[in-house]
Amino acid sequence: MTPLAKLPQIPAEIAAVADYEAFARERMTPSAWAYLNGGAADELTLAENLAAFRRMRLLNRVLEDLQGGHTRLQLCGLDLDYPILLAPVAFQKLAHPEGELASVLGASAMGAAMVVSTQASVSLEDIAQAAHAPLWFQLYIQPDRAFTRELVRRAEAAGYRALVVTVDAPVNGLRNREQRAAFALPEGIEAVNLRAMRSLPPSVARAGASPLFGSPLLDHAPTWKDLEWLQSLTRLPVLVKGVMNPRDAVRAVEQGVAGIVVSNHGGRTLDGMPATLDVLPAIASVVQGRVPILLDGGIRRGTDVFKALALGASAVMIGRPYVHGLATAGASGVAHVLHLLRTELEVAMALTGCARVTDIDASLIWR
Ligand code: FNR
Ligand code: LAC
Repeated sequence: MTPLAKLPQIPAEIAAVADYEAFARERMTPSAWAYLNGGAADELTLAENLAAFRRMRLLNRVLEDLQGGHTRLQLCGLDLDYPILLAPVAFQKLAHPEGELASVLGASAMGAAMVVSTQASVSLEDIAQAAHAPLWFQLYIQPDRAFTRELVRRAEAAGYRALVVTVDAPVNGLRNREQRAAFALPEGIEAVNLRAMRSLPPSVARAGASPLFGSPLLDHAPTWKDLEWLQSLTRLPVLVKGVMNPRDAVRAVEQGVAGIVVSNHGGRTLDGMPATLDVLPAIASVVQGRVPILLDGGIRRGTDVFKALALGASAVMIGRPYVHGLATAGASGVAHVLHLLRTELEVAMALTGCARVTDIDASLIWR
């Protein structure tokens, strides 16, 4: 039997990324599903991310010359074939026994870059070993700054090409869907990259005490100063992920970040935030092209990628969609999700007369 014969089959009825969702759900436990697909509180922001793309309409453009067209771009030192990356998603063994190793194979097969989570369920070194595509490391600055430095050194040594510092989750959002499903990490799945870290001193609960303020978690929450410290520590490009407020975008650019990821964490942190697509124009207008902007949250179609690029993003990241592919068909599912989105993007470009991604602009959005 060839190794290929062992690859799980992609269900024949899958024609679009969203079709993977039902298959993935069947293959996961209800509590792991609640973790993967849920958002914070009433999931207003989660829904809004999807709704914003659905509200927006495109204008076509005919008879443009498409000869020599392509989707290539340069992004923070990477040469990419197309503007879609895999977003950092924690604990991928919840979706598939091979977890992040299968995802990175899928990304490699499709030449896409993957951003590996600090909270991956496979070590960052093992993922790098399996990769034939560029990797970025998503960093959560840890309360133990010496440990954080060590983590950065490990990512550098393993060949990661940039750090993506996630800044929108000093505390986890209140994920009611997860709570109702009594989600807990099963035996054997953990944040292996953080294993050696000293734990925070336990806080002693006093009657009437604040549940969070004054706790070690918030006392050690990273600040702009810590970002500066991190930038001084590494020669890798440092991007910030989780920027929604134009004021923060200005500050990040002034502080010399290599890129900004407009993200509301897939609706998993502060419920009630707007869709990323809806804040993108304001961010693009203050950033003024000084650094590349990436966007994630709600991308389910190549036309969604197109809309984000039209409003000022250089590239997008996908989260849940590739994990649905992973749960359904391992590495092949991840590769197929990327293939579907890339194909849809190219069709959208052809039908709007865009031979390159830089031709995609706001004039192609119908108002
Ligand atoms: C995430 N996300 C995330 N982000 C991050 O910076 N570090 C992480 O460890 C995780 N973990 C994580 C787990 C799960 C299950 C999900 C769904 C998301 C957020 C992720 O990078 C991205 O911002 C969103 O997933 C984008 O939204 P979509 O594509 O899922 O709609
Ligand atoms: C999450 C954390 C791990 O969104 O970022 O689940």
